[in-house]
Amino acid sequence: MSKLIILGGAGFLGANCARYFKEAGHTVYVLDNLVRRGSELNLPEFKRLGVEFFHGDVRNKEDFVPLPKKIDFVLDCSAQPSAVDGYNNPTFDLTNNTYGLVNALEFARDRDAGLIFCSTNRVYSADRVNAFSVHEQDTRWAWDASKITPPRGFDPVYGYSQDFDIDGGAHSVYGLSKVCADLICQEWTRAFGVPTVVNRFGVLAGPGQFGKCAQGWVAWWVIAALFDLPLQYIGWKGKQVRDVLYADDVCRLFELEMKHIETVQGQVFNAGGGHENTLSLLEATAIVNELTGKNLSPALAPEPRTADFQIWISDFRKASQALGWKPQINPRAGYQSIIDWVRREESALRSLYL
Ligand SMILES: NC(=O)c1ccc[n+]([C@@H]2O[C@H](COP(=O)([O-])OP(=O)(O)OC[C@H]3O[C@@H](n4cnc5c(N)ncnc54)[C@H](O)[C@@H]3O)[C@@H](O)[C@H]2O)c1
Repeated sequence: MSKLIILGGAGFLGANCARYFKEAGHTVYVLDNLVRRGSELNLPEFKRLGVEFFHGDVRNKEDFVPLPKKIDFVLDCSAQPSAVDGYNNPTFDLTNNTYGLVNALEFARDRDAGLIFCSTNRVYSADRVNAFSVHEQDTRWAWDASKITPPRGFDPVYGYSQDFDIDGGAHSVYGLSKVCADLICQEWTRAFGVPTVVNRFGVLAGPGQFGKCAQGWVAWWVIAALFDLPLQYIGWKGKQVRDVLYADDVCRLFELEMKHIETVQGQVFNAGGGHENTLSLLEATAIVNELTGKNLSPALAPEPRTADFQIWISDFRKASQALGWKPQINPRAGYQSIIDWVRREESALRSLYL
């Protein structure tokens, strides 16, 4: 069994990891500055589970000093994770998401620990991602495979792999902060021998996601439906497509990466739900309406967001080959688990959202 510290461990993904790895028998510590609204709601559960919590900020080196001396792995789930909010304060994103990661890597180096990093598909530029020919279907956009000569790292069935070009075009400020952090991780393995793994995730979702209009849309759809909050499709007629990966599948991926760290250190994986687990926003609305009995009917804002993607599907075949990993949770089952969570935590969530 390992000793793990989860940075940003009170957030959506971090708290799911804390629960998963604690229940699997590992010793789990969490560090978080609780900047994400709702993350404080996870603290009582940490107490119950025996997960030790450190209130700290990855931007401050001194906040790492009180952490335990013996650590096997750092799971870095801390970030300002919204591509929309990133434009409000670019310095903050670069300090938080990039410089914070340098502190985390130096901590891992000092403790002789590995580090698993949460990167993002926003390391790829929207101009490159949106460059392929598409056609409109009833509920979604789809690639015109016959009109596309696929470049390296793109396949019109499987989507984008980690070999897709990261250069050129608009990335968003958030994406930029993550491109830098992503490369820094890789360099820390080469230059200093810190065993790191970079996971470039598409859309993550699951119970415990305090979704909002600017980030975490899968859970936001359920929260808006159950609390009768206004919802919008932003651009592309609501037919933009995403593959969705659920938190428990991410935990299984991290578990395998830690187990096989000798062979996967220094590597980058695109990881998402993949082509079998895709959803458009229109399709998400139909599932949520069916599962909740509500009648969500989002308004349409015609202009897409800056640097947004029309279709994103993660080609995770490298992670499958290297680790035997494959997502197990489909969008419908995933939506049911989020609905169950919102109903279970209704009073706490009402105080956050209403
Ligand atoms: N949610 C997604 O769809 C998605 C997609 C791709 C990548 N990611 C990445 O996965 C990771 C986890 O995302 P999430 O959805 O759980 O986000 P989240 O906002 O729910 O959790 C992030 C946590 O980090 C904490 N945090 C932020 N800045 C901090 C700092 N300076 N010091 C300490 N703690 C800090 C927040 O309080 C929060 O609890 C992030 O790195 C994010 O960029 C998320």
